[in-house]
Amino acid sequence: MIVILDFGSQYTELIARRVRECKVYSEILPSSSTPEDIRKFNPSGIIISGGPSSVYDEDAPKLNKDIYKMNLPILGICYGMQLLANDLGGEVQKKDTQEYGKSHLMIDDNFDLFEGLWLEMVVWMSHGDAVVKLPEGFKAIAHTANCPIAGMANRKSQFFGVQFHPEVAHTPKGMEIIRNFVFKICGCLPTWTTTSFVRDSIKEIRQIVGKDKVLLGLSGGVDSTTAAALIHEAIGDQLVCMFIDQGFMRKNEGVKIVKMFRDYFKINLVHIDACERFYNKLDKVIDPEEKRKVIGHEFVRTFEEEAKNLKTEIPFLAQGTLYPDVIESATSGTSQNAVKIKTHHNVGGLPDDIQFKVIEPLRKLFKDEVRKVAAELNVPDEIVHRQPFPGPGLAIRIIGEVTKERIKVLQDADDIIMDEIKKAGYYRKVWQAFGVLLPIRTVGVMGDKRTYLSTLALRVVTSEDAMTANWADLPYELLEKISTRVINEVGEINRVVYDITSKPPGTIEWE
Ligand code: XMP
Repeated sequence: MIVILDFGSQYTELIARRVRECKVYSEILPSSSTPEDIRKFNPSGIIISGGPSSVYDEDAPKLNKDIYKMNLPILGICYGMQLLANDLGGEVQKKDTQEYGKSHLMIDDNFDLFEGLWLEMVVWMSHGDAVVKLPEGFKAIAHTANCPIAGMANRKSQFFGVQFHPEVAHTPKGMEIIRNFVFKICGCLPTWTTTSFVRDSIKEIRQIVGKDKVLLGLSGGVDSTTAAALIHEAIGDQLVCMFIDQGFMRKNEGVKIVKMFRDYFKINLVHIDACERFYNKLDKVIDPEEKRKVIGHEFVRTFEEEAKNLKTEIPFLAQGTLYPDVIESATSGTSQNAVKIKTHHNVGGLPDDIQFKVIEPLRKLFKDEVRKVAAELNVPDEIVHRQPFPGPGLAIRIIGEVTKERIKVLQDADDIIMDEIKKAGYYRKVWQAFGVLLPIRTVGVMGDKRTYLSTLALRVVTSEDAMTANWADLPYELLEKISTRVINEVGEINRVVYDITSKPPGTIEWE
């Protein structure tokens, strides 16, 4: 495996994913890691990420110098290269002209790191500082017009540095460089595959859980479904899944989830119909934050009550936590296990008197890797590629008061939107497509009669990661089809408008 030390680059996760695309496992560790922290993972090499600092900043993050004595190959990227140069006796300087964007790299030495590459290639640069004097034992292996030392190597110690970003798509041949580092320099083998992940996880889950039972809260999304499928593969009937239907799912979705788990996966499923309970709690609640709070709180209370009602001893709680959450909560690097165990007193806000040991079998994976694992476990395509759906569901897509009647109206409209988006081949091309029911009525005319009915906003966005999004440029015919069908088939709506707001300044959901 390869350890990536995170010095705060916006691309650190991308480095980890690129290494994994080589079928070599990678973990991101904090920049403050010690040789002992790193040794726990028994890595074959280390990548030092880029970062926003300058090595001369007073509070610039430093590398523990003993790491250089670990006898492991190191690749420093951008700030990582400058750190290497600075720590080992070279010199880094602020340049008069900063270099951001595409640049032409001339390769001066195409052994090992640059092996197999043409001598000139396009790379992505993003730096203010640059190495101006090499440390002893190093040699320049590439340059650009603005940067005489854009790559450096010390073949004896197997330390390498590149000033550009091989991990980004804007460096078209960057993957070759990562592959060269991982395979030729570090000697890794491409053995980390979905199949090996599933095999190892099953073994580990069995070991940890033994004969005990595991409770898992299902939402119907890809993460919790995949976690359930994986744990079920490992321990069969010892897994109990709980699906709490709050009444804010898409049309017939609750029924589909129950059917899939009971009939297809044959997983123990406890189905809690909590619709009335949630509708009552939301009575007259209009404020978006208040809605979210009420729903979140009620969910936890329902889960707690129903878990007690199961009346069997269930010591484990499974969660579909993914790797980005783990990195974010800065707990990475503390465990080598696919299934991390910790005693939680406050799982997702659960009260203190419920104590579960938490297992998170997907905590090593990125979202796209979860999808691959899901496919390996025969999770139906419909779930593997399901668009994201917010926890509070349709309740935050009904502006104003949420009533049973308005949920039904939105479900019907939403069902038509999904149907048409799928038929037109846009379901996988867009990030999300949905309707928002507005609390305003407008005048219309249908069959010579005046109408005074609700307005539906259609929201379709494209996005990479939901941090930013663009409204989708859908064909007019598709917009027209959706509008016509919604107005004709959903009696309560007489006007459909299209939301042309990007994020930012808008958010994807309306509440
Ligand atoms: P916003 O509206 O913040 O949404 O642009 C970004 C993405 O997050 C989803 N979303 C949620 N997902 N629970 C979730 O699991 C929530 O409470 C929630 N709120 C928003 C949203 O659908 C979009 O994909």
